Amino acid sequence: MTKLKNDTLLRALLKQPTEYTPVWMMRQAGRYLPEYNKTRARAGDFLSLCKNPDFATEVTMQPLERYSLDAAILFSDILTIPDAMGLGLYFAEGEGPKFERPLREEREIRSLTAPDPAVHLKYVMDAVSQIRKTLDNQVPLIGFSGSPFTLACYMIEGRGGTDFRQIKTMLYKRPDLLHHILNITAQSVTDYLNAQIESGAQAVMIFDTWGGVLSHSAYQEFSLRYMKQILTGLKREHDGERIPSVVFTKGGGLWLESIAESGCDALGLDWTINIAEARNRVGHKVALQGNLDPAVLFSTPEIIATEVEKILKDYGSGSGHVFNLGHGISQFTPPESALTLINAVHSLSKKYHS
Ligand code: CP3
Repeated sequence: MTKLKNDTLLRALLKQPTEYTPVWMMRQAGRYLPEYNKTRARAGDFLSLCKNPDFATEVTMQPLERYSLDAAILFSDILTIPDAMGLGLYFAEGEGPKFERPLREEREIRSLTAPDPAVHLKYVMDAVSQIRKTLDNQVPLIGFSGSPFTLACYMIEGRGGTDFRQIKTMLYKRPDLLHHILNITAQSVTDYLNAQIESGAQAVMIFDTWGGVLSHSAYQEFSLRYMKQILTGLKREHDGERIPSVVFTKGGGLWLESIAESGCDALGLDWTINIAEARNRVGHKVALQGNLDPAVLFSTPEIIATEVEKILKDYGSGSGHVFNLGHGISQFTPPESALTLINAVHSLSKKYHS
């Protein structure tokens, strides 16, 4: 058993009472922080940062040194799995992620195998244990993975920023091939998240960044189904503690009820949905995480506080809310805006918890 000094996040994810609403930010360690850019320059590039546990620990801790955040999130990327599968991940400067060998040919697809996290992703597990040591039980550490569908988007398209033509062509013309990829990827994600939990991750989050580009029925069949499979295989307890899970489908506001049935403890919300409506629809089943538009952080301290208050008020009294952005923080965010946000959540939320 580990005694966390601040376990507010874990309690909120399990809908247990808290004194205030906990807050963390997606991509909280990133390019908006000058100290991140310095470490990244020392590492050489983004992937070298991810693959070196000392650097990964250093940047994970950076936002916690600046702000009173209620959680740390492992510094890594969702694309570590396809990289470990041998697809050749690289980042072209200013162009986002790319793969040298995207999955197109049936022969390549049939020979895809799930990586062994203890071998091919050992650097991630080493980072998790090192971060836990450095955190010294101040706040919990969140582990994460991409959803099988979101990973498959990058694996098949070979890059980000596309119109999803390749993966959707496969989805409609060769659903058997896409299911094959998703099955192996779901197994990989399950093994990967369980290995993170064994190494010390105290909550886990599945990023389904692209689930929202699917039709209603395709979402159920090609995204949600595989996240359910992962949640079924996930370790729910480690070291005597419950390990809460969060599912975030960007653009998933229409499907909250079915996502809430997936077996996760909490739903991540993007900024397009009203959190009061989300709570009415699924708040009896799951906790909610979100959902400030990250663009609010380009405004003034007064406006940031007003927008924070709106979300807190919409969620209303009681536990089960983890404050977050509706998507990752922009690299152009002034770091002072993040400070305003975090302090506003802490001070304005107390009245909703008694
Ligand atoms: O939240 C955190 O602080 C943890 C770190 C984290 C990163 N990526 C670091 C990162 C997490 C949780 C991710 C998840 C991730 N990665 C997602 C899902 C969440 C989302 O944003 O929808 C996706 C789709 C990726 C894939 C990926 N990695 C993209 C599309 C990019 C380029 C983004 C950009 O803004 O250029 C990355 C690179 C990346 N991952 C950066 C960081 C800090 C920027 C890299 C740099 O330093 O150049």
